[in-house]
Amino acid sequence: MKKDTYIFGIETSCDETAAAIVKNGIEIIASVVSSQIESHKRFGGVVPEIASRHHVEQIITVLNEALEQAGLTFKDMDAIAVTKGPGLVGALLIGVNAAKAIAFAHNLPLIGVHHIAGHIYANRLLEEMKFPLLSLVVSGGHTELVYMEKHGSFKVIGETRDDAAGEAYDKVARTLNLPYPGGPHIDRLAAKGQDAYALPRVRLEEGSYDFSFSGLKSAVINTVHNAEQRGEVIVPENLAASFQASVVEVLTEKTVRAAKEYNVKQVLLSGGVAANKGLRASLETAFSSVKEVQLIIPPLSLCTDNAAMIAAAGTILFEQGKRDGMEMNGHPGLDIEAF
Ligand code: KG4
Ligand code: ZN
Repeated sequence: MKKDTYIFGIETSCDETAAAIVKNGIEIIASVVSSQIESHKRFGGVVPEIASRHHVEQIITVLNEALEQAGLTFKDMDAIAVTKGPGLVGALLIGVNAAKAIAFAHNLPLIGVHHIAGHIYANRLLEEMKFPLLSLVVSGGHTELVYMEKHGSFKVIGETRDDAAGEAYDKVARTLNLPYPGGPHIDRLAAKGQDAYALPRVRLEEGSYDFSFSGLKSAVINTVHNAEQRGEVIVPENLAASFQASVVEVLTEKTVRAAKEYNVKQVLLSGGVAANKGLRASLETAFSSVKEVQLIIPPLSLCTDNAAMIAAAGTILFEQGKRDGMEMNGHPGLDIEAF
């Protein structure tokens, strides 16, 4: 009988300090996420310096809590997986150095994981992956359509040329004086409003799977400014609904078209914006009529940053024999196709 594999995952690329233990790449044994959102709120976004300090303060507690939750020790682990990029370099380094220290002290293999690979592999904690597959990755820093032919192979077939979807959500939220992170607030308002403002749908050239959200963001800002100048009142619920309708329509349309063109068996939704109710509903409706494609949408806890997803992706790399050495560094611009 095959021995069980326990991978310890660490994630510190942005504003969550997280640790988790995943068994055989599919079962969460422990998962701890310490969020810094409260500390960044008053600045309206993540302040890199503050993020690094929080990670330093939290990391040991978070690591110990994951072991406690599982009732296991580092001696029970087969490897340590850690996000090595992309992300804020100072934040990444806290996780990378913690992972190195544990690997050295307990003589464990060290595995550097790409943050977005982690977001995609969060889906494997729900359902076995069937290839070829397509993942729509929508987070605060990324908006990508990633094609996977097999485990550990990532091809970016479309990406944003300017703002990420989450970034656009956060900027629009700021324009409407909503707190950081703005995505969930816009989502909540949108559910109460009507798509009453004419905002653009940016599709780019015919056939392209790339995205662009900065024009849409500017259109929202202009709508607010123009209304102010004319002394008109903006209905925030309606503006949120119109903005969300534009984002969701373009994301859904391109995902469905790519899924058909690439003949994929599954479509996996990943990243923080995957928590968006409008996007989830729109994809579910669109794929309900594409019978040959299975749509997987993770629960909210697996959409936003966590370490279980890093351990899940790390398990595949571990099984493929991929290892990092003690010279491993944080890579703010790490490329998913090459890592
Ligand atoms: O993946 P994530 O936790 O961190 C990054 O790797 O970037 O994503 C965070 C992003 C933020 O921009 C946040 O506003 C957005 O995800 N977000 C949402 C929702 N929940 C979180 N955006 C739209 N609707 C939501 N419900
Ligand atoms: Zn993320």
